[in-house]
Amino acid sequence: MITLGIETSCDETAVAVVEDGFHLRSNLIASQVHLHERFGGVVPEVAARAHVEALNPLLEEALAEAGIGFSELDAVAVTVGPGLVGALLVGLASAKALALASGADLVAVNHLEGHYWANFLEHGPPDPPYVALIVSGGHTMLVHVPEMFHHDVVGQTLDDAAGEAFDKVARLLGLGFPGGPALDAMSREGDPQAIRFPRALEDSGDYDFSMSGLKTAVLRYVKAERAAGRDLHLPDVAASFQEAIVDVQVSKTMAAAKEFGTPTVLLGGGVVANTRLRDRLHEEGDRLGIPVLAPSLGLCTDNAAMIAVLGAARWTRGERASLDTPADPQLRLSA
Ligand code: KG4
Ligand code: ZN
Repeated sequence: MITLGIETSCDETAVAVVEDGFHLRSNLIASQVHLHERFGGVVPEVAARAHVEALNPLLEEALAEAGIGFSELDAVAVTVGPGLVGALLVGLASAKALALASGADLVAVNHLEGHYWANFLEHGPPDPPYVALIVSGGHTMLVHVPEMFHHDVVGQTLDDAAGEAFDKVARLLGLGFPGGPALDAMSREGDPQAIRFPRALEDSGDYDFSMSGLKTAVLRYVKAERAAGRDLHLPDVAASFQEAIVDVQVSKTMAAAKEFGTPTVLLGGGVVANTRLRDRLHEEGDRLGIPVLAPSLGLCTDNAAMIAVLGAARWTRGERASLDTPADPQLRLSA
């Protein structure tokens, strides 16, 4: 069974081919980061236009690399949300046309669910239940998955997503866009205990997150140090900010895992590429005897392999999307 995955929800055009559910045959990404860099963030119209230009050549390349012809496709899995509407529509229109022309079935995929399905490439899914921590540029949430395809969002951010906080603080520190990876790298040279930034909602007793107070605290600290004429030690600021985010995410994720009967913890989303977050979650998981799975680094950020692997699983249980399926920028995880 051959599944083609298409992902265009934000600023990466991505196409992948997966065989028999979870064996990766090709996995290509055309990044648009260079187009958005000078704006300091993703510009929706620019993203949609860049997807239009990149998608067809990428489709051809991905199929050629996989050694698969259009007529051999069984399913075309595509991200229908959440994401930028114009960007989503480019991938969805292509997927519909491809399904119609090749005779393959169209399968609609939720991007957030895809993020934690990135863990199931190569080995397939372990038995549920799971607790999934999804942390990306647009989302920060903890999800209880009592059985396959059933979601209960138990907590989420009340303001910014974690990736957004990383990007904003990185910008404040002059690290460019997207700043998450640069801030991660710089933190390795710094002392995470140097500055005590607030751990928002750490003891709130629920699974919600908040980033805005932390962001403001970093801004205030930087301004005060500059006003006092002191040289900022940027690695210490970066490491201390990162530690504040990581502390809360680790403690809430593990609390949720304990509450829901020590299920497998699944990590997903671009921020899971963060070295400190991965290391701390794995350490805590080992200490508590809770299995923690994280996708390989290249499969944390947006990609189409995760869309293909989830699409194949949904196809196998009989799901087919009609050619009228709309894009849904606000799509939620289905219960
Ligand atoms: O999942 P993703 O590729 O796109 C969305 O669905 O939003 O996540 C992108 C986010 C960006 O905010 C980026 O700065 C962040 O993930 N990110 C990181 C790291 N790598 C990517 N944040 C912290 N540390 C990293 N190493
Ligand atoms: Zn994403």
